[in-house]
Amino acid sequence: LTDTYTLANGEKIPVVGFGTWQTPDGDVAEQSVIEAIKAGYRHIDTAAAYKNEVSVGRGIANSGVARDKLYVTTKIWNDIVTYEGAVAAIDESLAKLGLTYVDLFLIHWPNPAPTRETIGYEKRNADVWRALEEAVTVGKIKSIGVSNFRPHHIDALLKTAKIAPVVNQLYVNPSDQQEEVVAYGKAHNILTEAYSPLGTGDVLSVPALVAIAEKHGKSPAQVALKWSLQKGYLPLPKSVTPARIVENGELFDLDLSAEEIATIDGLHGTIRLTSNPDETGF
Ligand code: A2P
Repeated sequence: LTDTYTLANGEKIPVVGFGTWQTPDGDVAEQSVIEAIKAGYRHIDTAAAYKNEVSVGRGIANSGVARDKLYVTTKIWNDIVTYEGAVAAIDESLAKLGLTYVDLFLIHWPNPAPTRETIGYEKRNADVWRALEEAVTVGKIKSIGVSNFRPHHIDALLKTAKIAPVVNQLYVNPSDQQEEVVAYGKAHNILTEAYSPLGTGDVLSVPALVAIAEKHGKSPAQVALKWSLQKGYLPLPKSVTPARIVENGELFDLDLSAEEIATIDGLHGTIRLTSNPDETGF
């Protein structure tokens, strides 16, 4: 869990992150972050929209691990549509987390409803990005990236960006592989982070995954996560259950063969995922 990828800007990022989407604020978030760090995770992923930054920050502060040994990501929400709004949102996230800097700050969605029919995503993202870039310059953020962006959203952003995004965080799991945008990321040196790498739990009963797991004496969750790693992605499994938090970090004694990877590559679209954001339309 201390292994790292090197981002396009030279910063190192731990290859597995602890996801906190749908983790309730309060003791649950604080304790699960503490459990994760105890289990060896060094990378925590949150967002303003998850409404748990305060508790995640407490977990970080009470983990017993020094801040500079941890990698922390948060995200700007859809209601932020101006430069000034983004400047304030960055400071608000830092204050809630109780941190002087975050390692990675992402634009959460490319084309949120408030600006879709008004200024459009090009201007909104360019303005928010400028605020993120300035925060990098003054040391409040180390790296900046995007989430849920399609190639055309990134192409538009690159027209005005001074700093290119180093990460695109996407809903990627064996049943939803996002081939086009993942290929675009590879071509542009943008790391794919996989949120909901277990399909929010939905993919764990897919028979082919279960069969591979049984063969290795591992769990289907571990197989899905290792597939993500062996594809070169950065999985962000979420759990509030201590045993699962540990299990999801025990991936390094498992090696999937090329044939097994090919089998899992073939699972795209095998099940209907209950929370597939692609179906929300943007
Ligand atoms: P819980 O948080 O109650 O432990 P994803 O990371 O794809 O969003 O998936 C998160 C969901 O999968 C949560 O409901 C989580 O439950 C569940 N989950 C996480 N890890 C495991 C695991 N190792 N085995 C079974 N279910 C898991």
